[in-house]
Order: sequence, then structure tokens, then C-alpha cells
Amino acid sequence: MPIPFKFDEVGIWSELKLEIVEKYGSAYTAAFANQRGLKKFYIDAFSGAGVHISKRSGGQIEGSPARALKTSPPFDGFFFIDMDAQKTAYLRTLCAGRSDVHIETGDASKYLIQTLLPTIKYEDYKRALCLFDPYGLHLEWRAMEMAGQSRAIDMFLNFPVMDMNRNAIWHNPSAVPKDGIDRMNSFWGDDSWREAAYTEHAQGNLFGAPDIVKQGNDAIVGAFRDRLRKVAGFQFVAEPLPMRNSTNAVVYYLFFASQKPVAQKIIDTILKKYR
Ligand SMILES: C[S@@+](CC[C@H](N)C(=O)[O-])C[C@H]1O[C@@H](n2cnc3c(N)ncnc32)[C@H](O)[C@@H]1O
Repeated sequence: MPIPFKFDEVGIWSELKLEIVEKYGSAYTAAFANQRGLKKFYIDAFSGAGVHISKRSGGQIEGSPARALKTSPPFDGFFFIDMDAQKTAYLRTLCAGRSDVHIETGDASKYLIQTLLPTIKYEDYKRALCLFDPYGLHLEWRAMEMAGQSRAIDMFLNFPVMDMNRNAIWHNPSAVPKDGIDRMNSFWGDDSWREAAYTEHAQGNLFGAPDIVKQGNDAIVGAFRDRLRKVAGFQFVAEPLPMRNSTNAVVYYLFFASQKPVAQKIIDTILKKYR
């Protein structure tokens, strides 16, 4: 099959994420194996093309949608969303002949909020495992909130801390461009991230103005974990896993949130190996 475009090259942290989601996926479908009448779906909101190039080996590796399709026991249906039409076109070739797959080309938040998530209802015996895997601040809070409030969804989330630090949470908050603030507000749902991101030292700086000090990643990550529990309504949010690049810098944190104590046990066992 001709390759119509260049596949994404992915770092070791992406390969680890793929392993983790794949392992959880098969534990998830196995946990529902004996529940007749219940439908379990896999939703990949930033799915990519289904194939990547590994920076480590230089070879092709399967992306998250391709792995989900092979999960055993299988999911009952799949939703893959990506904004890049070349990627979804390639993904369609991988899914040829499968009537259980829906592929959407477009903005993930819009499709999730307006079309897909309203159909995943607990009372209709529908459940879903979602992977929200944006490169940066490209996901709207409302989608995460709907996932939590549905009580029917387990969610993996790529929390894009590098994009936050580059474009929104600067040492000098008054210098941040409006676009960075808007994207951060959209991801967080409001501007309360500022309370976690900065502290004000009452004694002030040399000029008497209050000294605003940027906090480390732990503060913002901890506040978002609380928000997923208290505002989105997830019962359980695992301690996020920092994913590092080759220079040991944290690129993002992998979040996992669920409603079930059994999910907590499974994910803790899986993540232990990667911490
Ligand atoms: C990190 S990659 C996904 C990798 C994939 N989940 C995997 O692990 O194999 C992020 C993807 O999001 C897509 N994307 C970027 N902005 C988007 C948006 N607003 N809505 C949907 N997809 C988007 C990109 O085209 C890219 O394929």
C-alpha cells in the first residue's frame, strides 16, 4: 500500500503510553466479558493515522487505534477522530471492511461534545474507554467534564504540560499573549488554573509590588487532578504519570480517571512498572 504522507515520528514516551493504554484496554474489555446487554466502546479522540515511525528503532509501529482494534476480548464499537484528513484517510484503509468502526475527520472537542458523548449513557448500559491524546492544548474542558459526569467513561488524558509552560504559564503572567490564555482557559474550563500556577508573596518585590511566583508542574498537575474529581465527577483519578523525553524533561503527564474501584486496582498495577 503506498504511503500517501509522512507518518508521525514518535518518541519513547509515546511508545510507553501506547503500551499502557493497550494493557488497560484488554483488562477493561475482560472485566465486562460476562455482562450481557452492556456495550463497551473505544473512543480515540486524537487518533492519528494508526501507524507511526518509532524514533527509537526507525521502524513502523502501530498507533492507538490500530492497537484498540486488536483488543481481546473485543470492544463492541470504535470511534476515531482526527482533524488531519490525510491521517483519517489512511486510517480508513486500515479499518476497511469493519462495520464496527466510525471515523470522523474534524475537531475532536466539537464532535465529542455535540455528537458522541451525549450518546454514551450509563442508563442505556453503554460504557466507553476514551483516549484523549492531543499534542497540546487542543481539547476543551467540557469534553472531559461530560466524560466524568456520564459515569460511563474511563479516560486516559495526555495533560500537555509543555504546551502550558511554553504558551500560557509564564514566569511573568502579564506578558502572556491572549491566545495562550484563551487556549489554557478552554482546556481548564475557566481561569482558576491561575490559583494553582502562581502564588503571590505578600511582602512584595524590591519595588513594593506583590511578587508573583510561578509554581512547578506538581502544583498545576495536582490542581487538575482535584478538578477531575470535584468538578468533572470522576470517582478515582490515578496519580498522573510524568512522560519524559530523552533529555529527561517532562513532555506531558498521563492521566487516568474512572468511576470504578476495580479500575483503580488495574491501573495501579499497570502504572507501577512505568513509574
Ligand atoms: C499525539 S497525536 C495522536 C497519537 C495517537 N493517539 C496514538 O497514540 O497513536 C495527536 C493527533 O491529534 C490530531 N489533532 C490535532 N488537533 C486536533 C483537533 N483539534 N481535533 C482532532 N484531532 C486533532 C493530530 O492530527 C494528531 O494526529
